[in-house]
Amino acid sequence: MTKIAVYAGTFDPISNGHLDIARRAAVLFDEVIIAVAVDNYKHTLFNSEERCALAREATKSSPNIRVESFSGLLVEYCRRVGATSIIRGLRAVSDFDREFQMALLNRNLHGGLDSVFLMSDAAYLYISSSIIRNTAAAGGDVSHLVPPCVNAALRSRIDEWRRRSAGEAR
Ligand code: COA
Repeated sequence: MTKIAVYAGTFDPISNGHLDIARRAAVLFDEVIIAVAVDNYKHTLFNSEERCALAREATKSSPNIRVESFSGLLVEYCRRVGATSIIRGLRAVSDFDREFQMALLNRNLHGGLDSVFLMSDAAYLYISSSIIRNTAAAGGDVSHLVPPCVNAALRSRIDEWRRRSAGEAR
């Protein structure tokens, strides 16, 4: 039986921390699906198509990782694709409470589904997508925290904003 795991998140944008978790999960499972949440009430910098395209580009050299978008309940999506595990990255003790709650809820909703936690690499313990977005927006260099395609997308989105706000100010 093919062991499929789902690694779900907003991925706005996907970071080296996320990629590290996805690649390590890909060693443990036959197939890993990076499931990009379309509608989880977060205001996103990149729309779901853009977030998927960036995740696809960043994982193109990993044959057993694929990227899809999903909406609605995560457990229903896992059922549809035949996944038996949900992958989550743990960065610090502060992540644990929320993860514990989500894992129990998801298992309560779908008994055949287990959450598997991977410790984030020490190099990425402090990063999150919002830290990356905010740093890039303020002109900081995030090239060591994201894959090259994300770095380029952040730069062009920020340049777009600057041009637009300069135009509005005129
Ligand atoms: N490296 C770097 N950053 C990481 C990380 C890692 N290993 N793991 C998590 N993060 C960051 C994310 O980038 C995100 O940062 P941000 O809030 O600054 O954007 C933050 O930590 C939270 O990540 P996560 O806990 O994965 O939340 P999420 O919003 O990205 O995704 C879903 C949460 C989509 C998995 C969850 O809301 C969900 O399952 N939704 C579907 C509806 C559902 O089924 N609900 C019931 C179950 S809760």
